[in-house]
Amino acid sequence: MTILKRIAILISGRGSNMEALLGAGLPAEFCAVISNNPAARGLATAAARGIPTVVVDHKAHASREAFDTALATAVDALQPDYVVLAGFMRILTTAFVGRYAGRMINIHPSLLPSFPGLHTHHQALEAGVRIHGCTVHFVTPQLDHGPVIIQAAVPVLPGDSENTLAARVLAEEHRIYPQALRWLCEDRVTIDTAGRVVIRGAGQASGVLRSPATDV
Ligand code: GAR
Repeated sequence: MTILKRIAILISGRGSNMEALLGAGLPAEFCAVISNNPAARGLATAAARGIPTVVVDHKAHASREAFDTALATAVDALQPDYVVLAGFMRILTTAFVGRYAGRMINIHPSLLPSFPGLHTHHQALEAGVRIHGCTVHFVTPQLDHGPVIIQAAVPVLPGDSENTLAARVLAEEHRIYPQALRWLCEDRVTIDTAGRVVIRGAGQASGVLRSPATDV
């Protein structure tokens, strides 16, 4: 009998990536959804699916260190194999990140290393890039910077607003995050000596995305 990986998901708000993960039929046991924000919409979504929810309110803690200590206590109580950040909008201390080294992943709405931080779709429009996207990566102390597991690219179209671009990227987030977590749950992901991710048996991407399309 395969032992299912135990997954803790951390959210701060809407929880659409969390929902994509919960609904993907992964070989995983979702032990809880934890939020730093008691008003996070995703908490109700998780509860409706019968997933235990936990709130560790950052506002109830005097410092980032105190919050991260409380968060680590809540996470460790679940004994997860993987900690999955899904729209978790708090910067984590180096101590917290180190505690889950190689076991914590994040999704970021840009093609890292471009556009770390906030307002990534605005950043992409301001920069005038023609291709944008999203990244699933291991979390390291440097914000939005760890080893990349999977990325998806989308075109930036004439007339795009932050909202239209965000929606196009989000649809891809909902595809690549379940895929990345599936690979982890299947023990197919390793990090090589150069610090790059290797995925056993992953297919090769084919085709190219040119944006705008070429005339010929
Ligand atoms: C997603 O677009 C996610 O990539 C982003 O927040 C959104 C959360 O939406 N995360 C970050 O910007 C982290 N740096 P969701 O709550 O509906 O999944």
